[in-house]
Amino acid sequence: MELSLQLAGRTITKNVEPKLGVSLLQLAIQHHIDWQHLCTRGTCARCRCFIEEGSVHLEEPTVAEHMRLDPEEIEEGYRLGCQAIVKDTGKISARNKTYF
Ligand code: FES
Repeated sequence: MELSLQLAGRTITKNVEPKLGVSLLQLAIQHHIDWQHLCTRGTCARCRCFIEEGSVHLEEPTVAEHMRLDPEEIEEGYRLGCQAIVKDTGKISARNKTYF
C-alpha cells in the first residue's frame, strides 16, 4: 500500500514520510511546517486539523480529544494534531485548521 502523508500547515504544504507511532504534530515540527501548537498535550486545540483523507490510518481519538473537541467535530473528521498518531501505512492528508 502507498505510504504517504500530506501536511498542510498555515503557510506551507509538504508531502512527508509518515512514521508509525508518531503524531501529526511531531511530524509537522520535524518537517518545519507551521502547525500552530502550544500545549502538545491536547488542551489548547491550536493544533486542530481536518483529516481530508486516510483517517483510518490514525489511532482512534484520545480522551483528550473527546474532552476538547465536540462530538460533531470528531465525526466530521477533525483531530488534534498532537494526539493523532499514525497507526499504519496508507495515504493520509491533514490540514491545520485552528479556531482562530
Ligand atoms: S498542541 Fe495543544 S491541543 Fe495539540
